[in-house]
This record gives sequence, C-alpha cells and structure tokens, in this order.
Amino acid sequence: MAPRKLAAGNWKMNGTAAALAEVQALMAAHAAPNVDLLICPPATLLAQMNWAKQAHPLAIGGQDCHTDASGAHTGDIAAAQLADAGATHVILGHSERRADHDETDALVRAKATAAHAAGLIAIVCIGETLAERESGTTLTIVGGQLAGSVPEDATAANTVIAYEPVWAIGTGKVPTLDQIAEVHSTIRADLVARFSDGANFRILYGGSVKPGNAADIFAVPDVDGALVGGASLKAADFSPIIAALERA
Ligand code: PGA
Repeated sequence: MAPRKLAAGNWKMNGTAAALAEVQALMAAHAAPNVDLLICPPATLLAQMNWAKQAHPLAIGGQDCHTDASGAHTGDIAAAQLADAGATHVILGHSERRADHDETDALVRAKATAAHAAGLIAIVCIGETLAERESGTTLTIVGGQLAGSVPEDATAANTVIAYEPVWAIGTGKVPTLDQIAEVHSTIRADLVARFSDGANFRILYGGSVKPGNAADIFAVPDVDGALVGGASLKAADFSPIIAALERA
C-alpha cells in the first residue's frame, strides 16, 4: 500500500503568536484532509499551536532536538520536551542547521535516535549544494547523507526522508522533474536495500515548492509529499499546495 502523503510546513525562525491566525485559517480550509498535515513552528509557538489545533488532525513538530534526554545544554531542547509540548515530529539535519551549526551526518543520526526514543517521527533532511549538483556528484552526496544520517532503528513509521537541494531552498529555483525523479528513485532504492519496510518510507521533496509547481512535483514517482518553507507561512499559499497533494 502506498504510504499516506505528508504536507509539512517548516516555519524556520518566523512567526509570533499572531501567526496562529494562519493556522486557524488553514485548519478551516482543510477540516478533514486526506493527507497528513504538519507544521513545524518555532519552539516558542509549539504549546500554543497544540492548544489551538484542538481536535483537528494537524500535527505539529519541532525543527531540531538535542541528542541527550536532558541536562546542562543551555538553549537546546530535548526530544521529550518537544513531545511534552505536543510535537509528534521533528525536522533534523536541515541544510540550514548543517551550515549554521556544523551538523554532521553522525550528529543528525544521533538526534534521530534521540527523537525515536522520545516517540517522535524524525524528518531527516538531505540534499546537495549547487557545486555538488554541477560537478555531477548529487547521487553520491545524497546517498552518503542518507546512509550516515538515518539510524538503524529507523522504520517507515518513525522516519521520513526530505530531499532538499540546498540551492533550491528559498531561491525560487527548482530541479527539473527528471532530476527530482532520479534522486527520489535512488533514495527509494537505498531505503529498500537497507530496511525491510523501505518501500513505505515517505520521501518528501523540499525547496521552493509553491502553489504553481506543486502539482507537477507531486506527480513525480516516489514523491510522497513536500517540506515547504516560505510558502507554508501563509494559509493562502500553503492551502493550494495541500490541495494539490490531496489530488495527486
Ligand atoms: P523553501 O524552504 O520552501 O522556502 O524553499 C524549504 C525548506 O527549507 O524546508
């Protein structure tokens, strides 16, 4: 059976309490979605968003967690604390964290293990830079990140893969559909080779997904949803992307 599709919003370091109105609008527009919906707001908004969603199936998630369950790590957040605030998911190894905080595959893998221990679904992000794309090493880079960042205890139920070419994030540039298909099918083959339920992992595409390109991207084989940054901040932008996924 094909995995249930997932439309995930990554708010990054955007949004204050006023932005909860966008979530209300989104929930009103998608009262009974036939895909999974997720918003990963800044940690400051998790508890309020969890309260605001009430019985709506919208899931909420963190954008990072620490490898430890608790302790002397000023400014960090443990996976169990995300779960306590209502999160069911956590984005890990986003390219902005890999770049801004020198996160390695080994660290991302340890964070994913910590997330799983706290009962969270880890969304593990991988993707090549423009230089890597232009030098023809995309599949090697992405394959290495996948092997290094996804822990042995990963299953289709506790792990989602997000393919996000670094050069496509926030730039308005997107790979061709053939390029997306090539990377997603390679990720799928790697998952099937390594995990008994590899066929059921969700593989999201991320990087400048917009209302205007979503339907084409969602028609690509092995694209099981999207991780959306800028276009997830406003219900008016995210809603048509969700609708496109529901039709895919
Ligand atoms: P973008 O970001 O949709 O703004 O390109 C995607 C992401 O970084 O997850």
